[in-house]
Amino acid sequence: MKPVIVVHGGAGRIFKEREDGSRSGVIRAALKGYSILKQGGSALDAVEQAVALMEDDPHFNAGCGSVLNQKGEVEMDAIIMDGKNLASGAVSAVKCIANPIKLARLVMEKTEHMLLTDYGAQCFAKAMGVPEIPGEKLITERSRERWMKNLEPDSNPHKFQTDLGTVGAVAIDSEGNVACATSTGGLANKLVGRVGDTACIGSGGYADNHVGATSTTGHGESIMKVVLARLILYHMEQGMSPEEASDTALNCMKTRVGGLGGVIVVSNSGDWAARFSTKQMSWATVKDDQLYYGIYTGERLTKSFEEALTSEGF
Ligand code: GLY
Repeated sequence: MKPVIVVHGGAGRIFKEREDGSRSGVIRAALKGYSILKQGGSALDAVEQAVALMEDDPHFNAGCGSVLNQKGEVEMDAIIMDGKNLASGAVSAVKCIANPIKLARLVMEKTEHMLLTDYGAQCFAKAMGVPEIPGEKLITERSRERWMKNLEPDSNPHKFQTDLGTVGAVAIDSEGNVACATSTGGLANKLVGRVGDTACIGSGGYADNHVGATSTTGHGESIMKVVLARLILYHMEQGMSPEEASDTALNCMKTRVGGLGGVIVVSNSGDWAARFSTKQMSWATVKDDQLYYGIYTGERLTKSFEEALTSEGF
């Protein structure tokens, strides 16, 4: 099987001055994941490492750069799933750790459970030797400014539908195993303790070797209502291509519950899609040693994997 990775840096609005950083961030994540796959690494390792790289990149709403809740704190959700055996691990409302996706993987591999939250997740992280970092280290100047702006009495009442984000990756490895990983700071100025779609299996992501893998981004409450990730794989099981299945599911979310978002998909035969109903979504994929990437609807730029490695300084 030829390996493929697809990553996204979140659907929503990407301001002009942040376009280059978002593009470069998703390209670097895709290159990282593909390098692992090319060396015979697993889809699970590839998606985890690709997402961890974006969690460390302050351009994205995940890890460092996460949006703030109503109290001005970072609370993050993440999920990882292995398509070989349908194992998954997730964390929700976690604070003070750099890489929630790595903690999600530990939940999957070191516990009998699938989702740990808040204080319990914090205790588990400690038991696993995951270093605690000051919450301030995850907060960027931009997320603090955005938080304060949203607190203003005349702030945009539709902010939950415009200020979206999240990062994710899906991959298929040389053995034909698929995996997905998704991580987010959630919605800006969300209520303390709010958990979105990302941590919920079938909503924030799903992976099944019998069909493929998907990772979602967008308005979490809408994504959960239609169980977006699993809905896409359902449509693929019924014979749709990844692109048709993504568009059909996103259209269902828009018409049934008025929700906007984006998705990335890889099928178990290596076909892929990156689709969104928002204005923009940063995404990148590598297949057959060729990188494709974009931000706007219909945009599909390309360069060779080797050329991209050099231009991104790998
Ligand atoms: N899709 C991310 C969230 O709503 O939390």
